[in-house]
Amino acid sequence: MPVVSIDQVASHVGKEITLRGWLYNLRESGKLIFPQFRDGTGVIQGVVSRTENPDAFQALSGLPQESSLEVTGLVRADARAPGGYEMQVTAVTIIQKITEPYPIQLKEHGVDFLLENRHLWIRTPRQAAILRIRDEAIFAAREYMHKQGYVLTDSPIFTPSSCEGTTNLFEVDYMDDRKAYLTQSGQLYVEATAAALGKVYCFGPAFRAERSKTRRHLTEFWMLEPEAAFARMDDMMALAEGLITHIIQSAVEHCPKELDTLKRDVKLLETVRPPFPRISYDEAIEILHKHGNPTPWGEDFGGDEETILSSEHGRPVIVHHFPSAIKAFYMQPDPQRPELALGFDILAPEGYGEIVGGGERISSYELLMERLRQNDLPEEPFRWYLDLRRFGSVPHSGFGLGLERTVAWITGAEHIREVIPFPRTIYRIYP
Ligand code: 4AD
Ligand code: MG
Repeated sequence: MPVVSIDQVASHVGKEITLRGWLYNLRESGKLIFPQFRDGTGVIQGVVSRTENPDAFQALSGLPQESSLEVTGLVRADARAPGGYEMQVTAVTIIQKITEPYPIQLKEHGVDFLLENRHLWIRTPRQAAILRIRDEAIFAAREYMHKQGYVLTDSPIFTPSSCEGTTNLFEVDYMDDRKAYLTQSGQLYVEATAAALGKVYCFGPAFRAERSKTRRHLTEFWMLEPEAAFARMDDMMALAEGLITHIIQSAVEHCPKELDTLKRDVKLLETVRPPFPRISYDEAIEILHKHGNPTPWGEDFGGDEETILSSEHGRPVIVHHFPSAIKAFYMQPDPQRPELALGFDILAPEGYGEIVGGGERISSYELLMERLRQNDLPEEPFRWYLDLRRFGSVPHSGFGLGLERTVAWITGAEHIREVIPFPRTIYRIYP
């Protein structure tokens, strides 16, 4: 009997097949039982009659949810069945019959309980749909970067220094009494590989010991970071627009079933096309004041401000020219107004907040030295980074796209902890 995955049953209508998976649910009604099977690719309902298939009936009857099994049966198209197909079960082999109650029942559970059981929670259709969309987003992002001529150059996770401020660094004991830090961003390293290869990016985990409890913060998250020699801030805005659009449209095109499982309103995603509205930091402050938000010029934006700024448009919004004082040490000042940085953020709609941060980097050795001193950063661990300004320095720019915030937006997830298989937050490193 051919072993078929549930997402492929449509092409086996009228044939007998074997499925391998788990019992997801069971409804018993007298002489008939309706088991629902899942195999990771989908869920299908089966039907078993006591009179026609006593052995299969016996095996499934009272079987606890999430027991593992192999079932053989005839596939039928049935508009009334969830998913549109049904399996008339003829034979069942139980692989493991669960003997204790399965922790996650098919009812509402509190989020703490679900997070404590994340290793099991991911088996539910909603979580599985989110993880499939995450996979699609990663695939689409890498495909886009590759097609734009960007070379993937992985950056290290153990680093000797900070990149995004020293207040949220994770310090770890390294060999021989030395200290290392978990990377906050691969940016400094892709600046080096950009001088070697031109257009590059890294894509991996980043770590922030932030005590933020918001729905947008993890202590470990994934970031895609392009960097290009000779590129300016505008080039990076255009690249980010293209990348975001490709990720969103790929998910809409390739994950309709998953988006449907999540009840996501795809109309809000379909309209995402470049160019995105652009507003300067100065204009952003004016918009905030008009909305009764009193943020003074010179202060950074938080979730509330980001939501106001992005809610006027159904698309992401680019905010550029932030005050240098609130941005990282490496940002190139605007020659016209040196108190401003050639940096930009992209804010996702529907309250998902900043999904991209980037801009042009300081290419002058002297200015970079000055900024390291102003930021109380030690010179020694940045020696190699300073070398990039000593040996053939060129203007260059890049950005970082936060994967989880992007996927949270696509999936409509309430909190970004739902869109990474095993989230790490200030309170949780288990499971
Ligand atoms: O704005 P950030 O801190 O920028 C950088 O790290 C730059 N070095 C990137 C670069 O230019 N190469 O972070 C970039 C993005 C944010 O816009 C956000 O989407 C995400 O990374 N991010 C987080 N996501 C989840 N949890 C956190 N704690 C995050 N911090 C940043
Ligand atoms: Mg930022």
